[in-house]
Amino acid sequence: MTAPLVLGIESSCDETGVGLVRGNELLADSIASSVDEHARFGGVVPEVASRAHLEAIVPAVRRALDGAGMSLGQVDAFAVTAGPGLAGALLVGVCTAKAYALATGKPLYGVNHLAAHIAVDQLEHGVLPVPAVALLVSGGHSSLLLVQELTGDIAALGATIDDAAGEAYDKVARLLGLPFPGGPPIDAAAASGDPQCVQFPRAKYRDGTFDFSFSGLKTAVARWVEAREAAGLAVPVAHVSASFQEAVADVLTRKAVDACLAHGVDHLVISGGVAANSRLRALAAQRCENAGVKLRMPRPGLCTDNGAMVAALGADLLAAGADPSPADFATDSGLPVTQVLASH
Ligand code: KG4
Ligand code: ZN
Repeated sequence: MTAPLVLGIESSCDETGVGLVRGNELLADSIASSVDEHARFGGVVPEVASRAHLEAIVPAVRRALDGAGMSLGQVDAFAVTAGPGLAGALLVGVCTAKAYALATGKPLYGVNHLAAHIAVDQLEHGVLPVPAVALLVSGGHSSLLLVQELTGDIAALGATIDDAAGEAYDKVARLLGLPFPGGPPIDAAAASGDPQCVQFPRAKYRDGTFDFSFSGLKTAVARWVEAREAAGLAVPVAHVSASFQEAVADVLTRKAVDACLAHGVDHLVISGGVAANSRLRALAAQRCENAGVKLRMPRPGLCTDNGAMVAALGADLLAAGADPSPADFATDSGLPVTQVLASH
């Protein structure tokens, strides 16, 4: 029997994503991004993002269906990000998904964006063995999670107490004169820099918690750059990028591996936009191997926000026999990761 065809819609931030998934097979992944419209503000402007979603969402659904050679009538179920995310942006996706579900008479699952970031890995690496630890690092979140069951039992082990890792990348890029979003240009600049050039602080490195803090690191980079400029010296962007990136990757991978060891878990999933980072990927691979932990990381294109991740989680929920969300379920910009499925 073929698995049901699930269409997933993501609109929680600045990416309008539509994915089509059958079981663990990715059939189409269509993305439209409003990132260029936010670049001059150095961060995502919620209202600009909402309007961009409105324009992009129906064409993205069409492109995904066309790309997979499918018609709307062949879709067995819909999934959409219900939260967390930007309130207005979420509304566009949820209202659109409700309209498709109502028009076709098919079930709709309102899902948690963070759980979807974990679920997407299954499209590449197959069913996630549980329990597993997940490190989610994006522009809005930096969390360590204990996954007992992807469709319903996820516990938070720790999270950032201030800036998210991606936010730190974006802020540091700005003060180095690099474009927004800052992750990719810092990653590229770091390739020719010396990660040991500046010893930036590793906050909460040995504090015994699974929490993170990145705002002090961002300030340390700002102070270092200011001192350099005050002395009339050029700022070595590649060295600063590499040193900053090393500090972020060091803390993230150390705590992630520690979380696995502390909970007797031998699978680690790393996902979210920052998981596209080359140094994080390399250091995580090395430290997991040393610790006997099996590392799973989606390819960079699936780490950043996309619709396939939402479809992947929807497919899991369907397979697990979960009830669809009620027709009047609401968006929740602060949806906790413990709530995988929006139920009201
Ligand atoms: O998951 P995502 O696409 O959106 C959110 O849910 O936030 O993550 C976006 C974040 C941005 O902060 C961006 O700078 C960061 O991911 N990012 C990276 C890289 N690619 C994207 N950070 C470090 N290295 C990268 N290669
Ligand atoms: Zn995300």
